[in-house]
Amino acid sequence: MSTILERKSVHHYTGQKIGIEAIDRILHAAMAAPAAVQMMPWEFIVITDDKILHSLAAGLPFAQMLPEAGTAVVVCAEPGKAAMGKEEFAVLDSACASENILLAAEALGFGAVWTAIYPDKGLIKFVRQQLQIPVNIIPLNIIPIGYPTGEDKVRDKYDPALIHWEKWQGTLITLSENNLHGK
Ligand SMILES: Cc1cc2nc3c(=O)[nH]c(=O)nc-3n(C[C@H](O)[C@H](O)[C@H](O)COP(=O)(O)O)c2cc1C
Repeated sequence: MSTILERKSVHHYTGQKIGIEAIDRILHAAMAAPAAVQMMPWEFIVITDDKILHSLAAGLPFAQMLPEAGTAVVVCAEPGKAAMGKEEFAVLDSACASENILLAAEALGFGAVWTAIYPDKGLIKFVRQQLQIPVNIIPLNIIPIGYPTGEDKVRDKYDPALIHWEKWQGTLITLSENNLHGK
């Protein structure tokens, strides 16, 4: 719970690169994500080359932090490997893997942020060209991972108004000690 509640999008990095063992652990977490009918329709491109990070940032206005982070993972979805061959399942499953990357980075003391590629057709085309990704593979996002400066803070987004409690025999169920413990 503390990792989940402490995770935040990190836009400011120290410039120091993370180690390969850390990337490996983070990708273990990525592939531990749930996937429809165990199809695991994802692939991961790890980028540590500063020149490539700069050229990606040049075409991605919302991913300007890429060079400063020093490392990035492009999460790719492969519809051909997804449940029923559907793009939607490939994207959903790869989004689950992406969230695991964000959480693993937080748990290991790093910063990370989902920067969007999908579903913008122009951005998909740009990233495919830059990284020579074949047309059957969809780059979903680029996740910069690095050491956070500490400037980015977690935001409390919890809003009880967004929870709609079901009624049980006409009585509104509320979250109380009693129903938490099944009494
Ligand atoms: C689908 C998706 C696309 C996003 N795209 C970007 C992006 O391109 N650049 C960026 O800096 N943050 C991006 N974010 C991060 C959100 O802006 C961020 O999660 C949101 O502001 C909430 O802040 P938090 O992650 O710190 O809780 C994206 C997040 C999601 C889930």
